[in-house]
Amino acid sequence: MIRIAAVADVHLGTDSAGTLSPHLSQLGDRADLLCIGGDLTRHGEPEEAAVLAGELRDVAVPVVCVLGNHDYDADSEDLVRKELEEAGVTVLEGERVVLDINGRSVGVAGTKGFGGGFPGAAASDFGEPEMKAFVRHSRRLAESLEEQLEGLDSDVKIALTHFSPVEETLQGERLEIYPFLGCYLLAEAIDRGGAHLALHGHAHSGTEKGRTPGGVPVRNVAQPVIRHAYNVYCVGSGDDDPTCEPAPS
Ligand SMILES: [Fe+2]
Ligand SMILES: [Fe+2]
Repeated sequence: MIRIAAVADVHLGTDSAGTLSPHLSQLGDRADLLCIGGDLTRHGEPEEAAVLAGELRDVAVPVVCVLGNHDYDADSEDLVRKELEEAGVTVLEGERVVLDINGRSVGVAGTKGFGGGFPGAAASDFGEPEMKAFVRHSRRLAESLEEQLEGLDSDVKIALTHFSPVEETLQGERLEIYPFLGCYLLAEAIDRGGAHLALHGHAHSGTEKGRTPGGVPVRNVAQPVIRHAYNVYCVGSGDDDPTCEPAPS
């Protein structure tokens, strides 16, 4: 059994030093890795990423993350990534990583993902170039996720995104903004590529639990949703519904 600590939307600012690290000091006793599903910062400033890097530097388990839309806001996503990588954090965008955890291989495929909506209310690759660019960006990132999941032959496979692959975990958000919160193409990618667990954030007012049409458990781990520093999901025990332990309050 692999214990995956997960959170998203921590939105650290330059004044956030010391807010996260106290909650992560015992993580090595509780989990085997930490996945963070984007919106690591408020505005994607490298100085904000440096604060997060400091919070994560002494975490006792491997840390894997994707960036979120906030982390692109300052057009400095490459510097955000660099700050985190210098602290030993793995940042995925259309990429995958395989970790050896207690003799078992755990693969994480990650992308920010993008919006576009869900069947019956989805944007289409039609009309103005801006709309085509929107939909093509979403499709390209979903395709990269599928390719990376397919490339994993690990014992445990995790899909990590910022945007949501399903509507179910958006419940609580205004219906009108669903197309800006996620896209069905991500769920298709996850189902075709295969995963034991899909983690995402972005929908601060959404719902924790969902499932792709193909049956992969989806968890919205946005911090305002899980209301803890992280949740720990146990996968690989044969049960297809990951059990969950919240972090101590
Ligand atoms: Fe967020
Ligand atoms: Fe977001």
